[in-house]
Amino acid sequence: MGINTLLAHSGNNPRDYFGFVNPPVVHASTVLYPDAASMAGRSQKYTYGTRGTPTMDALTLAVDALEGSAGTIAVPSGLAAVTVPLLAFLAAGDHLLIVDSVYHPTRHFADTMLKRLGVEVEYYEPRIGAGIASLIKPNTKVVFTESPGSNTYEVQDIPAIAKAAHEAGAIVMMDNTWATPLYFKPLDHGVDISIHAATKYPAGHSDVLLGLVSANETYWKQLYDGFCTLGCCSGPDDIYQVLRGLRTMGVRLEHHRKSALDIARWLEEQPGVAQVLHPALESHPDHALWKRDFCGSSGVFSVVLNGGGQKAQHAFLDALRIFGLGYSWGGYESLAVPVFLGDRTLAKSSYAGSLIRLQIGLEDVEDLKADIRRGLAAAAAAE
Ligand SMILES: Cc1ncc(COP(=O)(O)O)c(C=O)c1O
Repeated sequence: MGINTLLAHSGNNPRDYFGFVNPPVVHASTVLYPDAASMAGRSQKYTYGTRGTPTMDALTLAVDALEGSAGTIAVPSGLAAVTVPLLAFLAAGDHLLIVDSVYHPTRHFADTMLKRLGVEVEYYEPRIGAGIASLIKPNTKVVFTESPGSNTYEVQDIPAIAKAAHEAGAIVMMDNTWATPLYFKPLDHGVDISIHAATKYPAGHSDVLLGLVSANETYWKQLYDGFCTLGCCSGPDDIYQVLRGLRTMGVRLEHHRKSALDIARWLEEQPGVAQVLHPALESHPDHALWKRDFCGSSGVFSVVLNGGGQKAQHAFLDALRIFGLGYSWGGYESLAVPVFLGDRTLAKSSYAGSLIRLQIGLEDVEDLKADIRRGLAAAAAAE
């Protein structure tokens, strides 16, 4: 089945609920049992609101169809989709390897809470590939990947990393929010646990927070047990909104992809731009790897200004009229943020000027280019 057919039809069967196309939104804590024996044995499909509902199943089954996973959990934010699996699998004394270009709050969680719980945290260079084997120790439990990396978009050699990690018995987790399972299927490339901030493209409208974590057969039970233990379930309205968004994600993502690539290519030619960090550009150092493993690119990338520090960066941002200044991405509207790389310990390339991350929304490309021109002119004038 084609991806847009899967997006339109997987998850729920309309015949299960009187033929209505969309699933019911089940608001639930309590689930009733017919008798004491079934209650004692918990011998029915749904047992309590925290452990799953038909609404959650409609979304998670649709995501399983996209990811090729054995099971998926829905948690209250993309950040929870990172923290819940790490808590579900790590114990005191375990060693955790994390890519240095990781989403900053993932690093913060590892450096604070996980270290406090006795987990040994170590960062690795995003382009390490099979070389990760030299960092793996007898107590390495999890290798955490994110590709392309946040803000600078280094592409990781996921199959090589997964091979080395599996030879040592470690679990491979991947934050795949940038590509979504439409443009990269983590489990097909050796990843065990696929993480998706559904707040971004699946939700698509900047109005809902949700995270999805999908596991292969080997790790599904432990992931689900961790989810139930933490009580980290999501509300049914948010889940419903994400399933609604998922139905149109294919067409939206294709629009984001085309517009972002058009703008990224155009930006490479603009005065005042030193570099554009977008893995689908031939100029990107990891372009060949991206081309080997990915089948598309999404709408977020960064631009490096040609000289100028924070003054030029702020002038660029303050001149924008269509791009909003706001975090998150994946919604219908364009956004810009100043990039901070001060947390990096290894992935610290030297750039000609300051960096700005752009999320290209669904607006008309010519209007966005005109807005960016305003930003570049303001940055040049600020020198
Ligand atoms: C790569 C990545 N992972 C996870 C998240 C967290 O998602 P949320 O904002 O839903 O917590 C983000 C948010 O920006 C992100 O960029």
